Amino acid sequence: MNKTITLLLLLFFLAGCYYDNEEELYPTTNCDTSDMSYSSNILPILQNYGCLTCHSNANPQGSVDLEGYNDVTTWVNNEKLLKSIQHAPDASNMPKSQAKMAECDINKIEAWITNGAPNN
Ligand code: HEC
Repeated sequence: MNKTITLLLLLFFLAGCYYDNEEELYPTTNCDTSDMSYSSNILPILQNYGCLTCHSNANPQGSVDLEGYNDVTTWVNNEKLLKSIQHAPDASNMPKSQAKMAECDINKIEAWITNGAPNN
């Protein structure tokens, strides 16, 4: 009997955690990834996650400079930017030592890259 109650409590607890995650709070259906612009969408995302604090022109950690469109495209073209934020196994996970970015923000960057990473 006790085992059943414990199991029910555990299930309840796990369900609670599940509904707390970012995807549930910000469903991808509400994520508008159309017409992504470098200056109005992508740059603010990079700023929000502190990417430019560690990857500035003046002090680019890991020799990764993300300050300015031309510097960003270097890391778009070698595919490391998307891989790092998607936590792909063949790139360092970014933002470094922090939780993965919200799925919607990752999708926006991916959509912008798929669209040819325009300087708009
Ligand atoms: C706290 C500092 C810090 C923050 C914040 C940070 N990075 Fe990094 N980043 C690093 C360091 C240091 C490296 C060098 C590799 C390593 O040590 O993991 C790196 C490496 C990278 C690389 C190269 C990855 C590879 O596998 O070669 C990319 C691309 C990158 N960062 C993008 C980003 C993006 C995009 C963000 C924001 C979402 C970000 N970084 C946030 C410190 C940071």
